[in-house]
Amino acid sequence: MDRIRLVGGNTLRGEIPISGAKNAALPLMIASLLTREPLVLENVPRLADVNQLEKILENHGVDIAVHGRKPIQLEGQRMTLEAAEIVDTTAPYELVSTMRASFWVIGPLLARAHEARVSLPGGCAIGTRPVDLFLDGLRQLGAEIEIDEGYAVARAPGGLRGGRVVFPKVTVGATHVVMMAATLAKGTTVIENAAMEPEVTDLAECLVKMGAKIDGIGTRTLTIEGVDELHGATHSVVPDRIETGTYAMAAAMTGGDVLLRDARAEHLRAALDVLARTGADVTEEASGVRIHRNGNGIQPVDVDTEPFPGFPTDLQAQFMALMTRSTGVSHIRETIFENRYMHVAELARFGADIKVDGQVATVTGVPQLKGAQVMATDLRASVSLVIAGLVASGETTVNRIYHLDRGFERLEDKLSAVGAEIERVTG
Ligand code: UD1
Repeated sequence: MDRIRLVGGNTLRGEIPISGAKNAALPLMIASLLTREPLVLENVPRLADVNQLEKILENHGVDIAVHGRKPIQLEGQRMTLEAAEIVDTTAPYELVSTMRASFWVIGPLLARAHEARVSLPGGCAIGTRPVDLFLDGLRQLGAEIEIDEGYAVARAPGGLRGGRVVFPKVTVGATHVVMMAATLAKGTTVIENAAMEPEVTDLAECLVKMGAKIDGIGTRTLTIEGVDELHGATHSVVPDRIETGTYAMAAAMTGGDVLLRDARAEHLRAALDVLARTGADVTEEASGVRIHRNGNGIQPVDVDTEPFPGFPTDLQAQFMALMTRSTGVSHIRETIFENRYMHVAELARFGADIKVDGQVATVTGVPQLKGAQVMATDLRASVSLVIAGLVASGETTVNRIYHLDRGFERLEDKLSAVGAEIERVTG
């Protein structure tokens, strides 16, 4: 099994190109199920989750052609997805269980084929992550849904109809799904307390290019007027704000000067503000975001994770890694997922001082971390171990890195290009 080996101590200098966002690419690919015409996606990242979703969509009858699968050039892949016919409305356990987002096919399948049988999802082990809000939302659009032998079995005889969906909590996935389903429903759907994450906006903008009628994009209330058919379109995936934030934390951790090329500051304002409070210089430039830190210490900052535009839960582990080297005590409160502190035990192997009490982690900075053998437990947690390893004395090995490959394109290449001593060890 592949491992990452790194030796800490180098400062990072240079440019890191930011890839297209995994969390936007996945729903955009799923949106191809809504039309018989080709959907062309540009700037698609080369990731294991993208490959897995290709398999799932192909099983439903989507023809997929990819240009740029090999990362010879820096641009992302160009992917053409054509769902001329939906040949199968079942998404089986074997394909769905490794990635939670694959459950999202339920929305487009119901909308276009009026039925879907989708295995309940797996994915990162970060809490129970139920699907009740997806099912409640789709029921408001007239779907009949039952759970049978681990599958959500959904039908909409005669098609979905518009309805009012009020989410009791902000959910990115259920917002994607209900929005996609509503584009082909009869009548108007109003989604209240919708997620406003940039990936939701990116999907909404692509759906509009495909002929959907959506008002309120980028706000908490989305109004969708159903249409009879959607058509093909071309859309470029928004740059990955989580990858951006991750490398921003890495640069703040090691010191140095890194331009995150193509990053959009407006998509991670809260995280950049926090980084500035830790003492990093954050500059917005025409070509991206620059992070610079000189030899001064890392200041402790308290953070609560929140839905967008707040500080993202997907940067919590990376920020915790940064705080392990602060000059004081910081408190991190995870409010989105109930079990998202699995990296704490692994960070402790570097000598970090972290105590968890319920939702709150108290991180007391230490003057030095020591390289260690650590294990990746989920996607964002794994990269927090890389960030710690970048400043730890001596050698660090991050084992079981398949989670990293799910969400970070060529991580070791991008970091070594800016001066980190990092390599992938195969086998
Ligand atoms: C998406 C992101 C993930 C990110 C998360 C929160 C993708 C592929 N994944 O995940 O990286 O960490 O948003 O920003 O885009 N919930 C329910 N019932 C439901 C659905 C959700 O209780 O039916 C709860 C979840 O358990 C969680 C909260 O709602 O506590 C938010 O989850 P949600 O926004 O839906 O996360 P995902 O869409 O799975």
